[in-house]
Amino acid sequence: MTTASAPGKIILFGEHAVVYGQPAIAVPVPQVRATAVITPAPHAGILLAAADFGQNVWWHKASPTHPLAAAVHALASQLTLAEQDQSLSHLTITVSSTIPVASGLGSGAAIAAALIRALALHLGRADLATPAAVSALTYEVERIHHGTPSGIDNTVVSYEQPVYFVRDLATAAPDILERLHTTGLSDLPAPALEPFAVGQPITLLIGYTGVAAPTKESVGDVRRQWLADAPAFNALFAACGRIAQQARHALAAGDTASLGRLMWDNHALLQEMTVSSAELDALVVAARTAGALGAKLSGGGRGGNMIALVTAETSAAVRHALLTAGAHTVLEMVLGRDWLSGLAE
Ligand code: MEV
Repeated sequence: MTTASAPGKIILFGEHAVVYGQPAIAVPVPQVRATAVITPAPHAGILLAAADFGQNVWWHKASPTHPLAAAVHALASQLTLAEQDQSLSHLTITVSSTIPVASGLGSGAAIAAALIRALALHLGRADLATPAAVSALTYEVERIHHGTPSGIDNTVVSYEQPVYFVRDLATAAPDILERLHTTGLSDLPAPALEPFAVGQPITLLIGYTGVAAPTKESVGDVRRQWLADAPAFNALFAACGRIAQQARHALAAGDTASLGRLMWDNHALLQEMTVSSAELDALVVAARTAGALGAKLSGGGRGGNMIALVTAETSAAVRHALLTAGAHTVLEMVLGRDWLSGLAE
């Protein structure tokens, strides 16, 4: 039996704009996790069992776009045909997750990453179980379900480290790159996958609206709006990028007041992109009224989660305000200094 898991994630700054080459900051949420267990079985083939999702499917019969089947295919693509024949059978892969689905916490990426890592380890392919390999293969699964993912979700859940991230547009999305240039946004930052410093531990509350909102839809809507009015959306993306850069400095300096302001500003830009919602706005306003230093939606938006920056003094009041304003759950996480020693290779 082989087990592997991957955490949820939240985007602190720069969601959506990151798809268009701007920097973003994301951190893992280790309290919620996806787990994959590989067990040898008497049956031929691979049984994919996901009790949490009410699903039991055979890999070879499932559509290649089935999320679990796609993860197995991603790993299989790295094996020779002989290896596939020999090893991809007589297995049950059981997947479970405590990450709410379609909530902006990266549930799909975490499930794929856990499955890919567990299967790679089970097959004795430690080279395919490294954070970089798992991230690259998870990205292939994300592409099927998200269309034009930036790659930040698979990166954070596979490395299980906070990251300052800029996608490599040249290789990942030549169509986006070309249009960004023809519509006037040519000075994009260089691709980056870097850890960042945290001068002062910060406490975040993650409030769940209870509204499931698939990232694919909000990403697709932003794309349609960008195609219709590229100059306006390029300006919004660039403003988000500047916020992510300033936030990186504020995090390093332990400047929580500036960090909070940047969160309000980022939320306002996301509202302009039309990816907020009445539920998200209600939670952000409740957090502000109850004394949070900053708050914003996190992830794809339209539902899912928001985050609020709190202190030891304001945490209880903000949590109460979020629950009163309609949050289904509120998770607390501390982003500390010691967690950030560097990206695992
Ligand atoms: C989703 O967690 C983050 C988005 O920016 C999409 C992406 O980066 O692929 C909305």
